[in-house]
Amino acid sequence: MAGWWPRFVRPSTLRRQGILGMNARNASYIAEHNPRRHYPRVDNKRLTKQLATEAGLAVPGLIGVIHSHHQLRRLADTLQEQTEGFVIKPAHGAAGDGILVVTGWRGERMRKASGRMLDSNGLQDHISGILSGMYSLGGRPDAALIEERVQFSEVFTEVAHTGVPDIRTVVYRGYPVMAMLRLPTQESDGKANLHQGAVGTGIDLASGATLGGVQHNQPIRVHPDTEASLVDLAIPGWDKLMELAAGCRELSGLGYLGVDVVIDRHRGPLILELNARPGLAIQIANGQGLQPRLQAVDERVAKVSDEPPASRAAWAAAHFGCVPVGLGPVPHERHDD
Ligand SMILES: Nc1ncnc2c1ncn2[C@@H]1O[C@H](COP(=O)(O)OP(=O)(O)O)[C@@H](O)[C@H]1O
Ligand SMILES: [Mg+2]
Repeated sequence: MAGWWPRFVRPSTLRRQGILGMNARNASYIAEHNPRRHYPRVDNKRLTKQLATEAGLAVPGLIGVIHSHHQLRRLADTLQEQTEGFVIKPAHGAAGDGILVVTGWRGERMRKASGRMLDSNGLQDHISGILSGMYSLGGRPDAALIEERVQFSEVFTEVAHTGVPDIRTVVYRGYPVMAMLRLPTQESDGKANLHQGAVGTGIDLASGATLGGVQHNQPIRVHPDTEASLVDLAIPGWDKLMELAAGCRELSGLGYLGVDVVIDRHRGPLILELNARPGLAIQIANGQGLQPRLQAVDERVAKVSDEPPASRAAWAAAHFGCVPVGLGPVPHERHDD
């Protein structure tokens, strides 16, 4: 399959291939299917966690929530109990900004996913930044969540040595339509967001196998740090993951949704977070446009309404198994990544 991604493709070609652009996504899908009143369910990570837990869907464990500077004083001492590390994130963050992945301790200092060290002052400064709204949508004061660090399944050690990969699935009207595996790199410091320099790889929805990747919007076939192949990695528990993603429609009340799932070594798939404005680079990673799949779902819903999540996931697997075709970079966009 070498060379099946040309570097540049004219906009007219992209449209023929069914690429969804930013304007169409915003007007026809986000505005149409995502009622604004439900945004807090996905823009506030603490609320998402609570709703998922109430719905019986698994999430990474919450160690604590920091609301004020008073709580920072003895925090590093308390966190020493977390020998496997922890993750700090803004409750209202996006695109990996403000996320700190700590993988363990060396004495009183913390080791970050990239291998760099952090002392307790550095930790306090980082959380102060979160509290002051440095990373929150709209710059409003925010809370910092402390989560257990997810330990990824051992199958991907060669492509996931610096952090936890996540699986982004776009779910339209409750049907998974496209997915990508996102792999942290040295550059992305343990985070799987493409904006931070992570690698995205397309996924065959039928089998859960990866198709090949993209970094900084350019096609790649091997991991930039290890040169391990990005093709034909089999994601464990794929059917269960598709069902979990489909079920996020009910949970969020949103019809056009990006679901981020991580696979914990011990607990299996966990919902990390939900996005109301999922980015469009997933199309490049898959070498496929979203448009034909979104239309197929509209036709399905016109015929069959009220399918439960498991049937929606099975239908999607049967209809959106993909054969990659060539696509170039998509235009710049405003999204949650
Ligand atoms: N609990 C966790 N354990 C390990 N890695 C995590 C954890 N939470 C987040 N990450 C890493 O950071 C990335 C971004 O986290 P996420 O919660 O999706 O926030 P954002 O809204 O900024 O994308 C994830 O894709 C993952 O790679
Ligand atoms: Mg995310």
